Amino acid sequence: MTLLPSSSLRRQLLFWLLVSTAVIGALALVDTYREAVKTANLVSDRVLAGSALAIAERVVVAENGSLEVDIPYVALEMLTSAAQDRVFYRVDGPPGKFITGYKGLPTIAQTDSQLAVFDNATFRGERIRIAVLQRSASTGINSVPFAVTVAETTIARRQLTQAILLRSALRLALMIAGAATIVWIAVTLSLRPLYRLGDAIAERNPDDLHPIEQIVPAEVQGLVETVNSFMVRLQSALDALRNFSGNASHQLRTPLAIIRTQLALAGRATTLAEAQDAARKGDIAVAHAERILAQLLLMAKLDAAGSKGRQALSPIDITAISQEITADRVPAASAAGIDLGFDGSGPVLVQAEPLLFGELVRNLVENAILYAGAGAEVTVRTRSTGDGALLEVEDDGPGIPKERRELVRQRFAREHHRDAPGMGLGLPIVEEIAQLFGGTLSLKDGAGSNGLLVEVSFPAPATS
Ligand SMILES: Nc1ncnc2c1ncn2[C@@H]1O[C@H](COP(=O)(O)OP(=O)(O)OP(=O)(O)O)[C@@H](O)[C@H]1O
Ligand SMILES: [Mg+2]
Repeated sequence: MTLLPSSSLRRQLLFWLLVSTAVIGALALVDTYREAVKTANLVSDRVLAGSALAIAERVVVAENGSLEVDIPYVALEMLTSAAQDRVFYRVDGPPGKFITGYKGLPTIAQTDSQLAVFDNATFRGERIRIAVLQRSASTGINSVPFAVTVAETTIARRQLTQAILLRSALRLALMIAGAATIVWIAVTLSLRPLYRLGDAIAERNPDDLHPIEQIVPAEVQGLVETVNSFMVRLQSALDALRNFSGNASHQLRTPLAIIRTQLALAGRATTLAEAQDAARKGDIAVAHAERILAQLLLMAKLDAAGSKGRQALSPIDITAISQEITADRVPAASAAGIDLGFDGSGPVLVQAEPLLFGELVRNLVENAILYAGAGAEVTVRTRSTGDGALLEVEDDGPGIPKERRELVRQRFAREHHRDAPGMGLGLPIVEEIAQLFGGTLSLKDGAGSNGLLVEVSFPAPATS
């Protein structure tokens, strides 16, 4: 609202209240004015007509046939008693014949009415109201028509209308002032919960991200809910950060210690072979640290992403991605004595983000290479099912006992493979990524009930 000088709610409410009451008040005043003029005229016109009638009754026909009138001054006095108004009259005989009174006084030409006729006019520079009464005087043989005009200045009427108008304006102003006061107080009272809300938030510890439970007006409830959901997201981002830094320092300690030891050994090495051995071990530890960091970063990213939903995702072909990643790991697999293969043809579409999906496949393939044991056969499979898509990584290694399958899905849970360079984040990462794309992870027996079959199923992409 650029109209307003300030964005204060109180001022805006007052502004609109004043604007609306001013408009309504102005209309009411116009109406009052017209009503007041009408009333004042009605009352005074009656008196004016009365005095015209009183004069008309005194008009007689003289013996010579002309009209004569004996003005009853009482009739005029009942007019003048009211205010400083001046009174005029004239009596006219048959058309055009002036009999008595003020000759210049405006009158109304011939009317047919038996009742008094009224009009506004000006006389001697003053506004006047005139009443004209048409009568006829009778001689017994014939009747002579005449007109009596009585006029008075309009000072009293105007004073009356002004008084009425003034009173109404005063009443209106009082009403507006009253309403403004009420609005002022009401706004102050209504804003109180907001001030309390502000205080409550200000008093909080910076890391207190509990939902706001203050009672607030319904209009502000939405804002509070938005802030609350924002705080939930902030909390999960903070948790992710805390988890990350805590885990990073804990998990990196071992590889860092190894690197340090190997560096010291290399420094003290007397032969090239010794130094090379230390460098190789140090290098393995660096790779280990790298992997830990990568997994932790990925986990933190997933934590921070929270449950953003799949709205912004477009369908991708998981066959192509899985095939590529599998092919990538074939050398590492054969070095470990594992026969890694891919099974699947034709595109399989899933609504997912390609890099994250790649991480998912990579984690599963790496697990199989690490834990299935030399001589094992590992197959990565993609296929469309009736209501979605499936990614499978199957091996015929030792597998994971049924009762431990729930446990290994938790963070930092590991089976008896302590020497392998992981830390138990792989499967949780797989599960979180799957959930991000609406999918589910299940661990099953491998083919021939030997080994492990990891199944990730995804819903069919939304058709738009
Ligand atoms: N194909 C498999 N065969 C047998 N055991 C497995 C297999 N995959 C996973 N496991 C067991 O489950 C545990 C958890 O796996 P997960 O991938 O979560 O963690 P990790 O591989 O130990 O560490 P990270 O993946 O974070 O490097 C592993 O330590 C391993 O003992
Ligand atoms: Mg793993």
